Amino acid sequence: MTPTQGLARGMAVEDTGGPLMVPVGKGILSRMFDVFGHVIDREAVLSDVQWRSVHRQPPLLARRSTKSEIFETGIKAIDVLVPLERGGKAGLFGGAGVGKTVLLTEMIHNMIGHQEGVSIFCGIGERCREGEDLYREMKKAGVLPNMVMIFGQMNEPPGARFRVGHAALTMAEYFRDDEQRDVLLLIDNIFRFIQAGMEVSGLMGQMPSRLG
Ligand SMILES: Nc1ncnc2c1ncn2[C@@H]1O[C@H](COP(=O)(O)OP(=O)(O)O)[C@@H](O)[C@H]1O
Ligand SMILES: [Mg+2]
Repeated sequence: MTPTQGLARGMAVEDTGGPLMVPVGKGILSRMFDVFGHVIDREAVLSDVQWRSVHRQPPLLARRSTKSEIFETGIKAIDVLVPLERGGKAGLFGGAGVGKTVLLTEMIHNMIGHQEGVSIFCGIGERCREGEDLYREMKKAGVLPNMVMIFGQMNEPPGARFRVGHAALTMAEYFRDDEQRDVLLLIDNIFRFIQAGMEVSGLMGQMPSRLG
């Protein structure tokens, strides 16, 4: 999960005795994190948070909502032709540079402007510059107070990229379950997540399809 330069045989290992943890709570809003839940925006230290394991049970099937409602993105072409379901998942597929990231950014704008929800942006394996760009843009647009960003970009080892999605989900679940707020979780890009899984399998000498 971290670079291994400098590690050598025979070094002492310290067991934390716990799984990977991320902070959740009101204090994480408007902040930017890495996979370990460390803030990477060079702002004040975190306060008003609790730490949760990234490995959590999904809600029981019986607890899930059965009615289907449309989630209005405010982008007419999407709402008319391919409406998104509230509480559902949707995938956005396209080649490099065709506008996926721009569309996601637009959705964050609309969600925060009209729906009083929280947006969580999880960057997996894309360029580090993109995280930086997004942070500046969101700050300028004034939507940062209702947003959380978490990144495991392409400069990070495969283990970090493979787990950063779980970390983002844990934060999203907190807003959904503990605060009963609408949450828009955006993952850019899910292919990089799968690719990270394949790399982890490769490092462990398994078939890429085992984890990827
Ligand atoms: N709707 C749009 N209208 C005009 N230009 C766009 C639009 N969507 C994307 N672009 C341009 O395409 C570039 C690449 O888009 P981006 O969302 O980063 O691609 P992807 O994430 O799919 O690789 C953007 O920097 C922007 O200049
Ligand atoms: Mg992109």
